[in-house]
Amino acid sequence: MKVQAAVMRTGNGPFTIEELELEAPRSDEVLVRMVATGMCHTDLLSRELPPEFFGGPQVYGHEGCGVVQAVGAGVTDLAEGDHVVLSFNHCGTCPACDTGKLPYCYNLTEHNMSGGRPDGSKAFTDSGGESIGSHFFGQSSFASHSVVARTSVVKVDPSYDLTLLGPLGCGIQTGAGAILNTLDVQPGSSVVVTGAGALGLSAVMAAKVAGAETIIAIDRHANRLELAEKYGATATLSGDPADLTSGIHEATGGGADYAFDTTGNAAVVRASFEGLNNLGTIGLAGVGFGDLTFDFISLIGGRTITGVMEGDSTPNEFIPRLAQLNADGRFPYHELITTYPIDQINDAEAASADGSVIKPVLVF
Ligand SMILES: NC(=O)c1ccc[n+]([C@@H]2O[C@H](COP(=O)([O-])OP(=O)(O)OC[C@H]3O[C@@H](n4cnc5c(N)ncnc54)[C@H](O)[C@@H]3O)[C@@H](O)[C@H]2O)c1
Ligand SMILES: [Zn+2]
Ligand SMILES: [Zn+2]
Repeated sequence: MKVQAAVMRTGNGPFTIEELELEAPRSDEVLVRMVATGMCHTDLLSRELPPEFFGGPQVYGHEGCGVVQAVGAGVTDLAEGDHVVLSFNHCGTCPACDTGKLPYCYNLTEHNMSGGRPDGSKAFTDSGGESIGSHFFGQSSFASHSVVARTSVVKVDPSYDLTLLGPLGCGIQTGAGAILNTLDVQPGSSVVVTGAGALGLSAVMAAKVAGAETIIAIDRHANRLELAEKYGATATLSGDPADLTSGIHEATGGGADYAFDTTGNAAVVRASFEGLNNLGTIGLAGVGFGDLTFDFISLIGGRTITGVMEGDSTPNEFIPRLAQLNADGRFPYHELITTYPIDQINDAEAASADGSVIKPVLVF
């Protein structure tokens, strides 16, 4: 079938809106008519990578949501008309998947970022007959329709507004899950969140849900710190790493129990780590490049550093839980969203980059 998609052709160029041919779903896939899709920084990673890492023209997008139009022969638990949120993909058979740690799937790259299916095939073809990368995070949701890995699909209650659900598939579940799952923040505790964007603000909201007493948000944009206060931060610090550690000690009366980084900035991470108390844990989700250094003794003293993928989420359980928390008025992540028609995708990227929009959602 013919579909409309936003194609990334060079890694650092604009998205181009094109008509592509889409294959029919394979046995373990679902054809989804996209209603909307969030844009997450990971859709823009090709901007930061050396050109040799760009795998050729692709359809990115990994916060899709929409309506099932058809299912492959092997899919028995979904049907035409189901409302779905699309999340990261996983293999289902490796040791991490076996223990339910789906975001840490040993085959995560092949299933999410290989530019096609794990077998190397691609589902899109352009008007000149060239194959275009598909199955980004199992879904490639910057397209009006996509064939999605069954393992990326989460069925949701049709009473929810589908336009708003896409970001639960990555950014929002990562921020909230870091707090509620990875760090398992306890009532009465203190939490530092570095970076008050989509991940950081959902982490602040989740820390409030968890009952944290002190929630410190750190960013260099004053407008984002104001939002952090609105959603539960009890203190804010602007991002200068030289002042962060003392600022955290001051706000917590000695050291924080938990920290969560979404900046990917090594100096911020180190300052935040040093702001922990002796038994504190820092979770890192922000993507950075190069080395991170920590003081030997402060680590041996009992602190923990852990990576955070997708908020340790089991999407089939966690996404409906977050949608319900939102419906109950306790997790207002939808207020972070600004919608754009899909053909304004480059404007959406620019507004995200300049900090004026927290979570762009592209609507079909
Ligand atoms: N690990 C995962 O599973 C996962 C999932 C989704 C996104 N990510 C990554 O998480 C990061 C955050 O994503 P996002 O959508 O929230 O991005 P975002 O741009 O909305 O938020 C990042 C925030 O960090 C702030 N920041 C950056 N450097 C800073 C510094 N030096 N000092 C103070 N503040 C600083 C920015 O001002 C911004 O508000 C990205 O790197 C993204 O690729 C990781
Ligand atoms: Zn796996
Ligand atoms: Zn993402």
